[in-house]
Amino acid sequence: MIIVGVDGSVAARAAVEWAANDAFRMRVPLRIVHAVDRSPYQISKHPTPAMPDLLLREGQRILREAEALVRERQPAVEVETRDIEGAPAEVLREQAEDATEVVVGSRGRGGFASALLGSVSMHVAGHVRCPVVVVRGEHRPTYGEVVVGVDDSPECEPALAYAFEQAKLRGSALRVLHAWQVPVHAFAPEASYDMDEVRTAQHQSVSDRLAIFSRDYPAVKLVEDVQSADPMNALTDASERADLLVVGSHGRGALGSMVLGSVSRGVLHHAHCPVAVVRA
Ligand SMILES: Nc1ncnc2c1ncn2[C@@H]1O[C@H](COP(=O)(O)OP(=O)(O)O)[C@@H](O)[C@H]1O
Ligand SMILES: [Mg+2]
Repeated sequence: MIIVGVDGSVAARAAVEWAANDAFRMRVPLRIVHAVDRSPYQISKHPTPAMPDLLLREGQRILREAEALVRERQPAVEVETRDIEGAPAEVLREQAEDATEVVVGSRGRGGFASALLGSVSMHVAGHVRCPVVVVRGEHRPTYGEVVVGVDDSPECEPALAYAFEQAKLRGSALRVLHAWQVPVHAFAPEASYDMDEVRTAQHQSVSDRLAIFSRDYPAVKLVEDVQSADPMNALTDASERADLLVVGSHGRGALGSMVLGSVSRGVLHHAHCPVAVVRA
C-alpha cells in the first residue's frame, strides 16, 4: 500500500497525482491520509454542537478532493482515505510502518513562504523506513529518465534496486550518477595520486555493482555517469532533466544513523524533480 499525506496545499495535490500514478504502475492500493492537527490552532478538543469541528470538516473536504483527483487520473487504482488526529509527522510515520512507500509534497500550507522544504516532509524523509518520495508543486514535462545517485558505500544498494524498478515500470532510461571527489589529504605533497588510476577505479566500481542489476533488468537502458564533481551539485543538475531522482538516506560516515546524509538533505531542498529517499 502507498501512503500519501495531504493538507490541501498545491504540493500535496502534486503528491497525490504522483502517488496515484505510482500505485497504478506498482499495482498496489493507495491510502490518502490527513492528520487533523489541533495543537497550533488551539481549537477545543471537545467541540460542542454549537461549535462544529471546523478542522474535521476541512480535513474531510481535503480528503474528498484528493480522492476525486485519484479517481479522475487513475480510475483503476483502489483508493481509501483516513483522517487521523495527531501531529502530521507522527501520523505519517505510524502509517508508514507497513507501507510500500510514503509520498508527501515538498511544501505544505504552513511554514515560511521562502522555505524549500516543509518540516513534515523533512521529518518523514529522515525517519521513515520505507522509501519516501517528496514531490514539488510545479508541473513539468516527462523526460523519460530516472536518475540515481550512488557513492562507494553499500548503503546505496536499496536505492539502486528502487531506481531500477522505477525505470522498468516507467519504461525509462536510468542514469547512474557517481560523483567523486579526491579527499583533501590527496593534495598533500607526500601523497602522489595517479588521477587516471583514480578515475578508472571509480568507473570500475560503478560498473561492478551495476552488473548484478543489469542481469535482472535487461530492458532498462543504462547511462553510467561518473563525474569528478560535488555530488549535491551534480545530482541537482541531473534532476533538471529527470522524472525522478533516487538517493540513499545516507552514505559512508553516518552508518546506522536515523538522520539524513548531507547529499540527501541537499537534494531534497534543491532538486527540480520528485526525490525518492531510500533507506538502507
Ligand atoms: N496535516 C497533514 N496531514 C497529512 N499530510 C500532511 C499534513 N501536513 C503536511 N502534510 C504533508 O507534508 C507535506 C509538506 O508539508 P509541511 O512539511 O507541513 O510544509 P510547510 O511547512 O510548508 O507547511 C505536504 O505537502 C503534505 O504532503
Ligand atoms: Mg505544514
